[in-house]
Amino acid sequence: MASNRNLLVLPGDGIGPEVMNEVRKIIAWMGRKRAVGFDIKEDVVGGAALDKHGVPLSDDAMKTALEADAVLFGSVGGPKWDNVEFNKKPERGLLRLRKEMDLFANLRPAKVFDALIDASSLKPEIVKGLDIMIIRELTGGVYFGEPRGRRPRWPTARSRRSTPSATRPARSAASAPSPSSSPASARTRCCPRRRPTSCTPACCGARRRPSCTRRNIPTCSSSHMYADALAMQLLRSPNQFDVIVTDNLFGDILSDEASMLTGSLGLLPSASLGAPDATGRRKALYEPIHGSAPDIAGKGLANPIAETLSYAMMLRYSFDLGKEADLVETAVENVLKAGYRTGRPAGRQHDPGHQEGRHPGNGRRHRQGTRPLLV
Ligand code: IPM
Ligand code: MN
Repeated sequence: MASNRNLLVLPGDGIGPEVMNEVRKIIAWMGRKRAVGFDIKEDVVGGAALDKHGVPLSDDAMKTALEADAVLFGSVGGPKWDNVEFNKKPERGLLRLRKEMDLFANLRPAKVFDALIDASSLKPEIVKGLDIMIIRELTGGVYFGEPRGRRPRWPTARSRRSTPSATRPARSAASAPSPSSSPASARTRCCPRRRPTSCTPACCGARRRPSCTRRNIPTCSSSHMYADALAMQLLRSPNQFDVIVTDNLFGDILSDEASMLTGSLGLLPSASLGAPDATGRRKALYEPIHGSAPDIAGKGLANPIAETLSYAMMLRYSFDLGKEADLVETAVENVLKAGYRTGRPAGRQHDPGHQEGRHPGNGRRHRQGTRPLLV
């Protein structure tokens, strides 16, 4: 269906293409039933791009992403590309997109569905009703530190960080459309239950200039926590948080931790947003927070919920289609309520959280080693 909504689809590697295929069905349904159409372009990214073009993201794909109203992303990586040189690693394609589109605000909602409360690694009474928005700065920190690489005698590697890079994501999220379809104030958006918003300060635990204060976001009350204390509090009493604003590295770690509260990494979507331009349009990329899970790729086991909810975030944040986003989110809840689940690997039936396995021989944190969920 012709439309003025330009969408770039980048399914990527591993389970990326299969979860994206499920979302294509919803896109087609939306076109038929709600007259919500997209002009869709598709390209390769990650290992697939490396195989095709010799780089994890071609300049052409980068250009298309910059011109698109939104990018819907799957996942990248796999054992096949484990030993390629640093600049060609599949995840460099994703990092290039984030950097060149200046997607500094990464919104990662972690919500516990009632139907899955027993899948959480914590007791039901601790996680019931959990609904946290983690706002992760996405274009600074050690991810983009200079100089890069490993040398024995470098005095200090610098983390790329500045005050604007820490405050921008929080301000941006406060002005983004509310998850509710009714008009909502920035206050509702930022602190729905008026409890303090937590901001983890800079890397290494040093308390720096507040990054989320009344002055920066007048409608938001906030308190500060060190990242280690916050990691502990997330397990002790996660419901005390509405919004967590944090830097790139801590946001990566804490959002993976938060995903376990919800039962699985396979459930969590994310939106990465840039600053609004003169017309109010933001560059945006939507992706599940799970990886490419090569061990279950192609077996029909991958859970498409995180990709589906990423698409719902896209409807809401990029196209102001709050009602349609609500529809998708409610459909996901109903499917879970009705008892539909993805399969589980043989022998692990009693381990609802079994999705964290790393792929063999790789002791490092490895995105593709995270198995999207089997609940
Ligand atoms: C994520 C991933 C990425 C990150 C990788 C693939 C670079 O873990 O989106 O959380 O660390 O940002
Ligand atoms: Mn991560």
